Amino acid sequence: MFGAAPFAHTQAPIASDPNAIDWSDPLYGPVSVMDFAKVAKTKLDPLAWDYLEGGSEDELTLRENVDAYSNWIIRPRMLTDVHRIDTSIELFGSKLEYPILLDPVGGKNCFHQGGEIAVSKAAANAKALHITNGGIDDLIDAGTAPTFWQVTTGGQLGSPAAMRAFVKRLEGQGCKGICFTVDIMHVSKREREMRNKLERSWCEAGLPARDGSGRLPVAKNPWRAGVWPSRPEPTPTWATLSELCSATKLPVIVKGIMTAEDGDLCVKHGAKAVMVSNHGARQLDQLGATIEALPEVVAAVNGRIPVLLDGGIRRGTDVLKALAIGAKAVCIARPYLYGLTAFGQRGVERVLQILKSELALSMGLAGVANLAAIDSKLVRRKTR
Ligand SMILES: Cc1cc2nc3c(=O)[nH]c(=O)nc-3n(C[C@H](O)[C@H](O)[C@H](O)COP(=O)(O)O)c2cc1C
Repeated sequence: MFGAAPFAHTQAPIASDPNAIDWSDPLYGPVSVMDFAKVAKTKLDPLAWDYLEGGSEDELTLRENVDAYSNWIIRPRMLTDVHRIDTSIELFGSKLEYPILLDPVGGKNCFHQGGEIAVSKAAANAKALHITNGGIDDLIDAGTAPTFWQVTTGGQLGSPAAMRAFVKRLEGQGCKGICFTVDIMHVSKREREMRNKLERSWCEAGLPARDGSGRLPVAKNPWRAGVWPSRPEPTPTWATLSELCSATKLPVIVKGIMTAEDGDLCVKHGAKAVMVSNHGARQLDQLGATIEALPEVVAAVNGRIPVLLDGGIRRGTDVLKALAIGAKAVCIARPYLYGLTAFGQRGVERVLQILKSELALSMGLAGVANLAAIDSKLVRRKTR
């Protein structure tokens, strides 16, 4: 709950000249998500920056994910009582202070050593739901029990027995839910990584040291010979989703849905939420922005389970638009990675604080005092 003066904070130095801004200060330097991106870029090896920022092939979807929010216009309502703004929601039986979740991200050590733990701690402090995919034991040792856990192709879902054993382990460790990522059945063609000869395992361990002339060791990027590395083993199917949902009492979110048909199938196979996502435009290119896919998925799911959305959220107004179009909550990845890269745990916390403040502010200015007051009339498509 935000009080009557939600955005007041202690005095920051006044700087009308951007060159006078002290970017090194996470509180009084960057004031928006994209300010954090600027700081992050200066701190990161260019290879790691390309891994964070890049998409697949022509990166058309990457640009559209961000730009498509401007196809939607907010229709603000006046003279409603907005002196208190309540951004809280109920999700999977828990109350969240605000509808912004943290997406799973592989390779956080590329951006910040111990990145998974830093993000986990930041999420706990900022009371945000974090979908994690780092080492369970490391997180528990660090005192940050996992909340939602991401699974995908490979070992954990390799056989029904392996799946049941993994799920029992998650349940035993207090995990609150499972996120099944369904859009990474193949290694995609990320050309920045190919040109950079980035080896994906570096992202897990952190980049290796460069030699005296600034070169990295020869990489084993799966695409390096320019040939598509197809997968030898069968990939998960809808039957896998049914098995997963019946193997656990934990709620299963399906991440990576872009069509009405698949949204409906998620419900029919036992999912407890569907996430409209195109993997931050890192998998198949040319499939359009997630915000454009949201209406058809919302219509097909028809209120049976919550619909979440990620991709391109950079402002509180983006969150507001997604909620108006029918998302129950949104997830972010690059925004918190910018914070993590720039300032570690504090940066992640600050990015979350900025986004939730922007959301509350835009709700206050649009005449909606709580999330239940947000509906499809709050937005319209821009006419050209
Ligand atoms: C560096 C990076 C690594 C990612 N790794 C994963 C992953 O391991 N599993 C997954 O489901 N999604 C992964 N994603 C996709 C995000 O979870 C999310 O769907 C997407 O990035 C959201 O868009 P945004 O970055 O514009 O917020 C990754 C994204 C980035 C930027």
